[in-house]
Amino acid sequence: MSLTKIGVLISGSGTNLQSLIDNTRNGHINGKIEVVISNKKDAYGLKRAENNGIDSLYINRKEFDSDLEFNRKIIEELKKRNIELVVLAGYLKILSHEFVREYKNRIINIHPSLIPSFCGKGYYGKKVHQAVLEYGVKVTGATVHFVDEGTDTGPIILQKTVNVDTNDTVETLQKKVLKIEHEILPEAVKLYCDRKLKIKGRKVEVSVSS
Ligand code: GRF
Repeated sequence: MSLTKIGVLISGSGTNLQSLIDNTRNGHINGKIEVVISNKKDAYGLKRAENNGIDSLYINRKEFDSDLEFNRKIIEELKKRNIELVVLAGYLKILSHEFVREYKNRIINIHPSLIPSFCGKGYYGKKVHQAVLEYGVKVTGATVHFVDEGTDTGPIILQKTVNVDTNDTVETLQKKVLKIEHEILPEAVKLYCDRKLKIKGRKVEVSVSS
């Protein structure tokens, strides 16, 4: 099976991107990251891409008249490189509907909570962990899902939990959750590249056959 061409969108430090770089380099993922695109100029993830010889691009929203045009530019860069799978690894902008339609069932996102809890509009970064602590839930976790036209509403691929302890802070919780994000994101991308994910309605079947 040929290597799946992957495009990764980021906005920040890119530790999830790093987990994808490591797992493509060691052959665990049957894919190749062809490009990393950031909407933030100073995203450290761009450096990670450069350090690993991966094409990296900063695309500034302010240079476009609308979100639609900005998204079109990203689509253009992905198409130029024949990207087959788009991974949102800490990408903090909402994709246009046109983008989602163009890459239907070929966009994967990682979210730092157990969807459908603590997700949707306004739940990003530390805000998610803050809300988890305020609510007092005893477990939280991370979710990898396909992206549909809603916010964090697409079919779920993998989830993993962590316990919320009484002495947890936003920072300790974020650290615990990031650790499992780095496990389930590469695992889900691996399954995709191995053609082991089948979407049925809002459910994702993971095939166990080799
Ligand atoms: C992660 O928690 C991800 O789930 C969220 O933003 C954070 C990005 O971290 N959407 P990093 O840039 O991968 O280090």
